[in-house]
Amino acid sequence: MFNFVDLNDFSLDEVQGLIEKAAEIKSKPSVFSNKMAGKILASLFFEASTRTQFSFQAAMLRLGGQFLGFSNPKTSSIAKGESFSDTIRIMSSYGDLIAVRHGCDGAARAASFYSKCPVINAGDGIHLHPTQTLADLLTLHQLKRRFNSLTIGVCGDLKFGRPVNSLVRTLSRFGENSFVFISTQELKISNFLKRFVERQHCSFSECCSLEQAIPKLDVLYMTRVQQERFKNAADYEKQKGAFKLTSKVLSLAKPNLILMHPLPRVDEIDNDVDSDNRAAYFLQAENGVYARMALILMLLNGQVQKGEKIGSNNKIKVLSRVCCNERCISRVEPDLPHRFVEKNGFLNCAYCDEEVELIG
Ligand code: NCD
Repeated sequence: MFNFVDLNDFSLDEVQGLIEKAAEIKSKPSVFSNKMAGKILASLFFEASTRTQFSFQAAMLRLGGQFLGFSNPKTSSIAKGESFSDTIRIMSSYGDLIAVRHGCDGAARAASFYSKCPVINAGDGIHLHPTQTLADLLTLHQLKRRFNSLTIGVCGDLKFGRPVNSLVRTLSRFGENSFVFISTQELKISNFLKRFVERQHCSFSECCSLEQAIPKLDVLYMTRVQQERFKNAADYEKQKGAFKLTSKVLSLAKPNLILMHPLPRVDEIDNDVDSDNRAAYFLQAENGVYARMALILMLLNGQVQKGEKIGSNNKIKVLSRVCCNERCISRVEPDLPHRFVEKNGFLNCAYCDEEVELIG
């Protein structure tokens, strides 16, 4: 059995295979309309969602399967104080597959320790959003036909935006990509991600002007400032509206730029830009259904060759120390053991990846 928590658990061939499968489904959906008959997706959304939640449900329905679940945890026994781990244990005996979104970093990995069925990460805190990356890659595949030799600008909230975190990690693994991180000083990309990019031998630069960066880009990935992640309203007020893509700014870009956004947008892309043929964000949202159909087929048809096998990761250690990331699920759910793994010379939290100590 396999989980889909982090794209790093999968080889690039597997990722490429998923995207090709998604493109095939998109070109002849009727062939796949009955493939998941009799299967149930448990859709557990502890956080707000439109695209991810409903595209998962649409994906399951379009494959002939069904879904159950909640979009507001207050309607479940969580409201009575039931733990996250018990909720997962129970729901994994009602569904064949779980898609979970949660406000804490590492929640999907935590779910994978308690689930009897495969777990899909539908967004965990500010950490990862791997199925958004699949939708993004399918869009790039369709419009650019490649995942490398690209100059990719990522603009907006690079500190709290999980689609950026997932996409940059995956595109840097494909190699020969160059990133331009466009943000304010306060919402800069993490050092962790910069080191990740460097380890994959990709290059990056940082700047605070969209106008300056845009002419050299092949792809521009805009993001909204993540209001819900700020500890106080005044800090958000200072950041909101920092970047705005208007038709005038877009006129500085290459004619074959791909303009992406995971959506929802607030005010960072002008509505006027929607009719520009470089705007790809609605296509991205549509592609989310096909990408998730391919993923469901892969996980439930057992076509995955490698990846993470539940319960087989014996490198995990349970320690008495606590993860230093205060957004980590292990800091919020008291019954979760403090699990750690060694990676790249660091002791990392097994839930949220936080590097807690340099080893040796
Ligand atoms: C993103 C998310 O939830 O992280 N939305 C999505 O799933 N398409 C981006 C966002 O909320 O800004």
